[in-house]
Amino acid sequence: MKVLVVGGGGREHALVWKLKQSPRLTKIYCAPGNGGIAGDAECVPIRADDLIGLRDFAVREKIDLTVVGPEAPLVSGIVDLFEEAGLRAFGPGARAALLEGSKVFAKETMASCGIPTADFRVFRELAPALRYVRNLDGPCVVKADGLAAGKGVVVADNVAEAEAALRLIMEERAFGAAGEAVIVEERLEGEEVSVLAFADGQTFLPMVASQDHKRAGDGDTGPNTGGMGAYSPPPVYTPSLHEQVCSEVLGPLIQGLASDGIKYRGVIYAGLMITAKGTYVLEFNCRFGDPEAQAVIPRLRGDLLDVLDAVLSERLSEVELEWDDRPAACVVLASGGYPGAYETGQEITGLDLVPPDIIVFHAGTRMSDSGSLVTAGGRVLGITALGDTIGDAVRHAYQGVDRVSFEGMHFRRDIAHRAL
Ligand code: AMP
Ligand code: GLY
Repeated sequence: MKVLVVGGGGREHALVWKLKQSPRLTKIYCAPGNGGIAGDAECVPIRADDLIGLRDFAVREKIDLTVVGPEAPLVSGIVDLFEEAGLRAFGPGARAALLEGSKVFAKETMASCGIPTADFRVFRELAPALRYVRNLDGPCVVKADGLAAGKGVVVADNVAEAEAALRLIMEERAFGAAGEAVIVEERLEGEEVSVLAFADGQTFLPMVASQDHKRAGDGDTGPNTGGMGAYSPPPVYTPSLHEQVCSEVLGPLIQGLASDGIKYRGVIYAGLMITAKGTYVLEFNCRFGDPEAQAVIPRLRGDLLDVLDAVLSERLSEVELEWDDRPAACVVLASGGYPGAYETGQEITGLDLVPPDIIVFHAGTRMSDSGSLVTAGGRVLGITALGDTIGDAVRHAYQGVDRVSFEGMHFRRDIAHRAL
C-alpha cells in the first residue's frame, strides 16, 4: 500500500515511524514532513493546509491511504475532498471534525448525548457575556468557539481576567472568526487525562490513556504550550474509570453523532478532567494528540495500517488492539523562548549518541543547506523511551535527552511527576 501522512510535527513522525513497520506498506510519503521524517518517508513540499495540492498529489501518485495528522485540514474538510476524488483518507469529515472546530457544537453535542462536562453558557455578544462573568464573580474558563491554535482558552482566576479574555476574543478579535461565539464555563479542578480512541462510525476502540504536560515549566508553572511531554499510562485513570468513560462518553458520543447522521471515522480524543466529584470532558479533538501520540503509538503492538484500514472499511469491530505493558514517556525539547518568540536555525547535536532503544521523534527540525540538522520550530524533538515502570521509562528518556543539545534548548525535568 502507498500511504501519505499529512502534517510535519512529532505526531506525524510517530505515525510514519509506526506505519513504516507494516509489511503491507510499499511506499510512504509525508507532506510536508520535517528533517527527521525525511529519514523515514519521502517528504513532499505541500503544506498541510493546501487541501487541493494534497488531493492532486494523492490522485497523481495513486495513494491508497492518507492519514491526516493535524486538526486544521480535518476541520476544513480534507477527508470529504479526498472522498469526492475517490481517495481513502483516515480522519473525520468536516461535519464530524466540528467536535474540535467548534466548541459550541462540542458542548451542545455533549449536552444532547448526556456526556458529563462543565456547566456552560454560549455568548455571541460582548455585553451579556461581560454581565454574566461579573455576576459569577469568581473563577471561570473563557473559550473562543473556533480553532485558535491552542490559544483560545483562558482559565481565569477572577472577573478581571475573564473580562480581559472576553474583550480579547470578542472585541479585539484576536482569533478572528473563531471568536464569533464564546463559551464561559465552570472551572473544574483536578487531574487531566487524554483518552484517544479509533472510531469507524459505529464502533469505537480505545487506546491506552496518556497524560500531557501543557505548561512550559516544571511543576506545571509558566505559560501554556502545545505540550512539553506525555506519558502513558496515567495511574489516575483506573480500569473502572475506563469502563465509565467508554459507557458514558465514547459510546454515547459515537452513537449520538450516528443518530444525527454524522459518521465519526478516525481518532477521537477526549480530554478529561478527573475531579473529586466525578470525571468531565473538557474538550474533544478530532485527531491524535501531540505529544500524546509520541507516548501512545510506541506502545501499540501489531500493524497500525491494519487498524486504519479497518476504520476506513468500517470493520473496527473485528479488530483487537494489543499493547506493550511497558509504560512510555516522551520528553519534548523546545526552542529557547517557546511558547513565545524563539529563534530557529540552531544546529542540533548529539542525536547519534542517543541509545538505540530510545526513539527520537522530530517536530520542528529541518536539514540546512550545508547538510546539518537545525531547529525549525518551537517544539523541536520528542524523546520517547519505554521502561518496566513509569520511573524507568522516564529515567531512560532523560538519558536520551542528556545527549542532545542545541542553543537555547529547554525542556521539563518532571515528565510524569503525577505518577511518580
Ligand atoms: P480545551 O481546549 O477546551 O481543552 O482547553 C485547554 C486547556 O484549558 C485544558 O487542557 C485545560 O487545562 C484547561 N481547561 C479547559 N476547560 C477547563 C475547565 N472547565 N476547567 C479547568 N480547566 C479547563
Ligand atoms: N496535547 C494536546 C493536543 O494534542 O491537543
